[in-house]
Amino acid sequence: MSDCRICGGPVQEFFDFGPQPVSDVFPKPADIGTEHFYRLAVGFCERCTMVQQFEEVSRERMFPADYPYRSSGSALMRRHFEQAAAHYLATELSGPDPFYVEIGCNDGIMLSSVQAAGIRHLGVDPAEEAVKVAGASGSRVHVGFFEEATARRIRETDGPANLIFSANTISHIAYIDSVFAGVHALLAEGGIFVFEDRYLGDIIANTYFDQIYDEHFYLFSVRSVQAMAERFGFDLVDVEPLPVHGGTMRYTTARRGERQPTPAVARWLSKEQEQKLAERATYESFGAKIESNCEELKALLTRLRDEGARVVGYGATCKSATVTNYCGIGPDLVPFICDSTVEKQHRVTPGSHIPIRPPAAFSSPYPDYALLFAWNHAAEIMAKEQEFRAAGGKWILYVPDVHIV
Ligand code: SAH
Ligand code: TMP
Ligand code: ZN
Repeated sequence: MSDCRICGGPVQEFFDFGPQPVSDVFPKPADIGTEHFYRLAVGFCERCTMVQQFEEVSRERMFPADYPYRSSGSALMRRHFEQAAAHYLATELSGPDPFYVEIGCNDGIMLSSVQAAGIRHLGVDPAEEAVKVAGASGSRVHVGFFEEATARRIRETDGPANLIFSANTISHIAYIDSVFAGVHALLAEGGIFVFEDRYLGDIIANTYFDQIYDEHFYLFSVRSVQAMAERFGFDLVDVEPLPVHGGTMRYTTARRGERQPTPAVARWLSKEQEQKLAERATYESFGAKIESNCEELKALLTRLRDEGARVVGYGATCKSATVTNYCGIGPDLVPFICDSTVEKQHRVTPGSHIPIRPPAAFSSPYPDYALLFAWNHAAEIMAKEQEFRAAGGKWILYVPDVHIV
């Protein structure tokens, strides 16, 4: 039992992945064994229903200056953020001299569209090398962690923000009270704080267990985000499901009483009740499904190896850290993973030590099977790798079930 990071209520554990490494730090072969491990376990708060982890990995370990993730590596995500920017440029950022602040801007995938429109903006992110990419293309950035003190400084120098936006970052921040205090300090009157993150309802419905790793400290639902917003003086005024990363929800919050909630909020709350998202039994069956998927995947890879088939991994995602380490998948079963991110290549996966190679290694020669760790980019990757299929290659997926396509 632990205390909820949102409301202080009792948190009931429902799954323990055991010791897991920090997921986005890829050791060089010479640094194998230096990984930091922590206990990856998840539970839900009986009071506010927030799903959360028990052990917090320090933010400096998770997001060092050379954090290798680059958002712009995916064409799908580039399009997604272009659309988001276009929407906000036409709405929240259409008044006189608007100011846009983004928490976790990474390489500027969203910020660049706001900048191109000539809108005052600031991206905040500690991942210095990724942020340099955003800065080099002309966006205004601050290297650092968004928290109350950062927000107060921004408010002093730049004035209030009309829109504070964040994608795939708020769920990474255990010290969420400081983030909301910062948003309070920085947000203009009538402004909104919008964030999008992996959606718990999709994770449960599809057994996306590999969405559980160090960075995803919280797994948000509409109900728990509403409770969180209210606790910190905000209202949840809109929710919108988005078809990225296997199921994402965009949450729009405003200071208490400033905006009327849309009908979507109540609709999603009742959907979550139907899905029994706040009930212990739901998490027990999720846990059982995680165990059976992992056993089946390990058995399939072992059989293929014993039959002499060649299997290669595709996409050295953070998700793959949980899958490989929890299932016990190492280079004996998957000799390498190819990944387009230059910063990950010629390194190994944390804990499971599978070498990472550039995409060119995939075709020389093509393997018999490709284990798709980056299943959230399946359409883009399969379209790119049509020759692999034509050569008789098959894709292995492990969510929602283990299957071959
Ligand atoms: N928004 C991008 C990047 C998501 S990766 C996208 O959706 O693709 C998460 C990013 O959050 C990383 O670049 C990390 O460095 C950053 N981050 C983590 N904690 C942060 C904090 N407290 N303030 C600002 N950025 C943070
Ligand atoms: P993500 O699931 O966290 O977005 O990470 C996707 C990983 O997959 C990232 O390391 C980049 C890699 N990738 C490829 O190797 N080829 C591709 O075509 C795409 C879209 C991603
Ligand atoms: Zn709680």
